[in-house]
Amino acid sequence: MRVLIDTDPGIDDAIAILLALASPELDVAGITVVHGNVPVEACTLNALKVLDLAGRRDVPVVTGAAAPLVRQARHAEAVHGPDGLGGLFPPPDDAHPFAADAAAFIARSLDEGEEPTTLIALGPLTNVATAILATPGLTERLERIVAMGGAIRREGNVTPAAEFNIYADPEAAAIVLRSGVPVTLVPLDATMRAIFPGEAAARLAESEVPVERAVGRLGSFVSGVYRKYYGIDGFALHDPLAVGAAIDGSLVSTEDLWVSVETGGELTAGATVADFWHIPEPWGEPNAAVALDADGERFLEFLCTRLFGRYPV
Ligand code: BDR
Ligand code: CA
Repeated sequence: MRVLIDTDPGIDDAIAILLALASPELDVAGITVVHGNVPVEACTLNALKVLDLAGRRDVPVVTGAAAPLVRQARHAEAVHGPDGLGGLFPPPDDAHPFAADAAAFIARSLDEGEEPTTLIALGPLTNVATAILATPGLTERLERIVAMGGAIRREGNVTPAAEFNIYADPEAAAIVLRSGVPVTLVPLDATMRAIFPGEAAARLAESEVPVERAVGRLGSFVSGVYRKYYGIDGFALHDPLAVGAAIDGSLVSTEDLWVSVETGGELTAGATVADFWHIPEPWGEPNAAVALDADGERFLEFLCTRLFGRYPV
């Protein structure tokens, strides 16, 4: 499956990119970078650092939007560290030049692929919405968008109402969800079921194998944050689960729903509101296959087998 990855690395984005590159089903045609966990410049460096680790600097990296469509940028350094990767990666081997037109790259790339392209979106949806708005016919050329984002039947993780990726650019998320492109949405309802155990991360952090050591150290860093904020020993595999769902839909249980994004609320901006009753007006036909649950244990095995060649770790 030919895929583009739009991302804001980010600790779980980094692991998601490694998973995508380690998955024989996926042909990663490019990585576009968006503001999010940290400013877009730092996210772009992080994407390059991850490609260096994977030995895959052949994959094009294109930087994109530095800010949401209409709001101020909002970051998550408290979770991912000031540089977005817990300060744990060396600088990239060579940081320049990289192109800076993510939305145009997405549009161009769809024409270049011989097979249909799926877009895996792991950050705020600014680049994706910009590409949709700027490119007539793009929505018909995209096979599917698999997006990590939202909190449907549970509380948000950045406000009580909203999950980070949607909160960071609600207007963009609303555009994507109304675009007519088939969307698989992977919200916190599913991703909070996919927890990487803290003690496994601590063990891997001591490994001599570079990928194991990197994931272990990133995981140990973010597990400390989860312990403090959520009382969880481990960390949620938000973005990796979206990659997993793109490869093997049976890792999550989906329901077709109409999902709207709150763009006006003072306390509820970025909330994802889903119609479970299929009320005809004003909702209409479902616009997303929404992952409401995940097989966390099977996904952990899926991830570890691909990244480390073994499970349990
Ligand atoms: C999402 O927000 C980011 O911090 C993570 O990388 C993930 O994409 C989870 O809410
Ligand atoms: Ca992310």
